[in-house]
Amino acid sequence: MDTEVSGKPPVGTFDVAALKAEFPLLQREVHGRPIVYLDSGATSQKPQAVLDAMDRYYAEINANVHRGAYHIAERATMAVESARASLARFLGAPSAEEVVFTKNATESINLVAHSWGRTNLAEGDVVLLTMLEHHANIVPWQQLAAERGVEVRWIPVDDQGRLDLANLDALLHGVRLLAVTAASNVTGALPPIRRLADAAHAVGATVLVDASQWVPHQPTDVTGWDADFVAVTGHKMLGPTGIGALWGRRELLDAMPPFLGGGSMIQNVTVDGFTPAEVPTRFEAGTQPIAEIVGWHAAIDVLDGLGMEAVAAHECDLTEYALRTLADRFGDDLAIHGPAGVVADGAVVRGGTLSLAYRDVHPHDLSQVLDQHGVCVRAGHHCAKPLMKVLGVNATARASLYLYNDESDVDALADALADAGDFFAS
Ligand code: ALA
Repeated sequence: MDTEVSGKPPVGTFDVAALKAEFPLLQREVHGRPIVYLDSGATSQKPQAVLDAMDRYYAEINANVHRGAYHIAERATMAVESARASLARFLGAPSAEEVVFTKNATESINLVAHSWGRTNLAEGDVVLLTMLEHHANIVPWQQLAAERGVEVRWIPVDDQGRLDLANLDALLHGVRLLAVTAASNVTGALPPIRRLADAAHAVGATVLVDASQWVPHQPTDVTGWDADFVAVTGHKMLGPTGIGALWGRRELLDAMPPFLGGGSMIQNVTVDGFTPAEVPTRFEAGTQPIAEIVGWHAAIDVLDGLGMEAVAAHECDLTEYALRTLADRFGDDLAIHGPAGVVADGAVVRGGTLSLAYRDVHPHDLSQVLDQHGVCVRAGHHCAKPLMKVLGVNATARASLYLYNDESDVDALADALADAGDFFAS
């Protein structure tokens, strides 16, 4: 493919074999076979640097943050605030004060729904979702709809699992919030976020982007997207579970009431009531997952060291290899939901999320046979049941690629699929 005209990022420059060696879990065997981890869409593996950073935190500076005036408490506070600054820069956010730590992207979206949504949306207002959304970006809006009489409307998908934007202008009529994923966890489709944000802003709507499946794989620029809120999670980008963040425009966050009440999020409390702290503290009630924040910071350092352009280029090449290999080896026996190619009209339109339908083998059966080969894929509805219904399936077997995967992993998947074919044919 001609990279001059394709819009593909520059060729990846890191050594994947050397990188794999930095992930303890990827050295394991299961069922007597080397593990082939193809479920990074569910959660990524963690490099030694992340495990070490969390251990060091507990061994050397474990103390609660924003409270103590002693040495290790100040060091712990500095560790949290430098992680916030690093994450802000990684996301292209104008200010670290616009980054709120949460438990995960789901909590970030719930924060927007509870705080911004309940302040700004009333009966008859429209929230526009897309058929690509994960339940995390559906259910909080359905809860709001049930409580406030807000209308939930949907952008449809086309036959390649991409957004169908033909009627976007009509769909945007009366919309107060557009909530859209930056990368589908089922079809791998990458919606055109800037175009959607421009169209939404033109009708006065606010834009929330669920970037859970984007940030681990592509350079992120929340300013370039012109989004208003962006939800992210640490565990899909080499970091630990239990930590995520919400980025929001300062003026929006400033005007939002707290979501959870408790310690730390206040300026003052009396028997008569409380006054909330400034952002981001206002939204960070209770003791934060400090070790997880430290681990996430180490993960960002690893990604920075590789370079997100190089990560994106590697995954782009590997996804093309996977699409080609699986088509060559299985032809019509294997359907892959989602865009047929990685690049279309000069833009990268899909990531390395490959939702497979293999002959008439049930995805759960398929994943169990693949597991016997050490190949880990996710089988099920992927927490995207409305999309599965449109795709006409109850479940898929999903292989999701990440920066530590290489062609040998794709080949192992193909070999395991071939064996599964023999097994279910007999
Ligand atoms: N949302 C994650 C997935 O798609 C858990 O698997």
